[in-house]
Amino acid sequence: MAAIERDLNPSPRLLLGPGPSMVPPRVLRAMATPLVGHLDPDFIAILTDLQDLLRRVFQTGNRLTLAVSGSGTAAMEAALVNLLEPGDPVLSCVHGFFGDRLAEIARRLGADVARLEVPWGQAFDVEAISKSLQDHPTRIVTLVHAETSTGVRQPEIEAVAAACHRHGALLVLDCVTSLGGLPVEVDAWDVDIAYGAAQKCLSAPPGLSPITVSPRAEEKIRARRSPVPSLYLDLLLLDKYWNDPPVYHHTASMSLAYALREALRLVNEEGLQARFERHERNAERLWRGVEALDLPPMVPLPLRLPTLTTVTLPSGLDDAGLRRRLLREFNIEIGGGFGQLAGKVWRIGLMGFSSRPENVLTLLGALDEILPQA
Ligand SMILES: Cc1ncc(COP(=O)(O)O)c(C=O)c1O
Repeated sequence: MAAIERDLNPSPRLLLGPGPSMVPPRVLRAMATPLVGHLDPDFIAILTDLQDLLRRVFQTGNRLTLAVSGSGTAAMEAALVNLLEPGDPVLSCVHGFFGDRLAEIARRLGADVARLEVPWGQAFDVEAISKSLQDHPTRIVTLVHAETSTGVRQPEIEAVAAACHRHGALLVLDCVTSLGGLPVEVDAWDVDIAYGAAQKCLSAPPGLSPITVSPRAEEKIRARRSPVPSLYLDLLLLDKYWNDPPVYHHTASMSLAYALREALRLVNEEGLQARFERHERNAERLWRGVEALDLPPMVPLPLRLPTLTTVTLPSGLDDAGLRRRLLREFNIEIGGGFGQLAGKVWRIGLMGFSSRPENVLTLLGALDEILPQA
């Protein structure tokens, strides 16, 4: 049949991979709301609502809080392209794929990047970060709170931020797989720039990525010697668009803004604490189940993310073949390992609307059926 004659009809997948997560019906319905113009006062009021809702989920009073157009990588670039100037010394803490991506973005922006690394699957010791800051004066430190490639939760962010500030550096924290799923306390921890993405624990479609900037970081951006090299991601220009009266910057997507607003209202209705506890409870259900199937979680309990679990595969298991069967026979998406963990782990996401007991049981049932045959 010619493409033009085929209905749009993707399979009804259960999204239990590293993102995107399932989108609740209320969010999908919000996307069908009629469009208004990107400078319409009604739309600017929606952007103002979004700022208020984003401050709640980031647990911050930061004035400069908005969502950039684009996926999480756009927020990564926005954080660094605004803060960094060529030659700036940067310390990139790398313990997985996304920490490495931050280092690469900084390198491409002409920063002088030093890497602090621990093996994938481990977290950073605050002392090691402190020592590195002492040995190499640094302007900006990049760190991933929830490393989606390994399933590790970086603890002690408050102590890391304090060490950065003691040494005159600012902390950029990637919260893509934590925002809305586990505590992200931007003000209490004194983080300078934190960002997330709509499609993970917030359960909106990808395409908008929240970012929040501390007054300290905003001051640094305002004091730049050179213009921000990306006009599209220039946070001070975006700030002028997100405020009333708006100054045109780009044509923002109304549908994605409607969706993110509804997703954040759902977060607010559930309450942050209740939401974090739900993520913990369902992750514990999953961990008990995968242990029983001889797929033990790779990350030790104190560092294990509730939102993304890496399970260790027995050697010789047909990783790709089994994931294909899960998708084809059960409509379940989970993720394979990335980079050095390719073929060694599966990545199971229980984020936002995907984090539900019935989803855990469906996945465990499907695994129980296909695993013995493998
Ligand atoms: C921790 C982390 N940071 C950044 C990103 C990049 O986000 P995106 O794929 O939405 O561009 C991801 C995506 O999975 C991520 O998990």
